[in-house]
Amino acid sequence: MRTGPLIGKNNDLEANMDWGLKNRLSRIIKPDTGRTVMLAVDHGYFLGPTSGLEKPRKTIEPLLPYADSLMLTRGVLRTSVPPEADIPIVLRVSGGTSILSELSNEGITTSIEEAVRLNVAAVALSIFIGAPHEKETLLSLSRLVNEAEECGIAVLAVTAVGKDMVRDARYLSLACRIAAELGAHFVKTYYCDGFEEVAGTCPVPVVIAGGKKTPEKEALDLAWNAVKHGARGVDMGRNIFQSEAPVAMIQAVRAVVHERKAAAEAYDLFLKEKRKKGNKTEAH
Ligand code: 5RP
Repeated sequence: MRTGPLIGKNNDLEANMDWGLKNRLSRIIKPDTGRTVMLAVDHGYFLGPTSGLEKPRKTIEPLLPYADSLMLTRGVLRTSVPPEADIPIVLRVSGGTSILSELSNEGITTSIEEAVRLNVAAVALSIFIGAPHEKETLLSLSRLVNEAEECGIAVLAVTAVGKDMVRDARYLSLACRIAAELGAHFVKTYYCDGFEEVAGTCPVPVVIAGGKKTPEKEALDLAWNAVKHGARGVDMGRNIFQSEAPVAMIQAVRAVVHERKAAAEAYDLFLKEKRKKGNKTEAH
């Protein structure tokens, strides 16, 4: 059992948290390793029926036993996740745009009362630093923190990257730090060269997105590098559910994040699990 602070590098963050908030966050970031494998399946909120998520229930169900939390919208939660499922929910509550419009023009789509009704552990909202609607998304984050903290619900800020932004350490450090300053309890960002600066200057836990589908070995390398340089885990979507063997892939990601296995060893596990009957999905 890990004996240090549950979610921070020091006790300051936890000392200022209510029991309920700590409890919810510790359901996502596992106390025994201090890390998390979040499964992101919220892509449809602006991308529509993303490859691999055409039938969300079919994609999600086999992965549920291996995910530490599920990040999704209320629509997919209600229609595609059994209410009996024992998994912390990270509810995406920002949206209002599509791939055809200005992505930064998001607002809050889902009330905090709805989040309570859905018994979520955390709510998630994107911020768009340097984009046309930067200010609105930052004020939305601040409002969400005010409302969510009243209910002991954690807030995940997603540092979404606009079309013209470079995903480098300077930009991502800026975005993560601003999210934490405005009160986010954890932050989702991208891995980049110099990631230790991003994680090291953000006073709350940082997790990384997987990004576009890459070969499984590359995605495992990404996860390994991220945790090595300070990420507390992943909030990964496409590199899991678009894999030809999603169940094998999420198990391999868990091996990197929770068991601290090297990427090569985790890849061997992926190949072994992939060979098992039923672990390979039909082509998407
Ligand atoms: C979109 C999101 C997605 O959940 C995020 O991109 C994670 O998924 P992936 O690993 O596929 O990049 O937050 O803003």
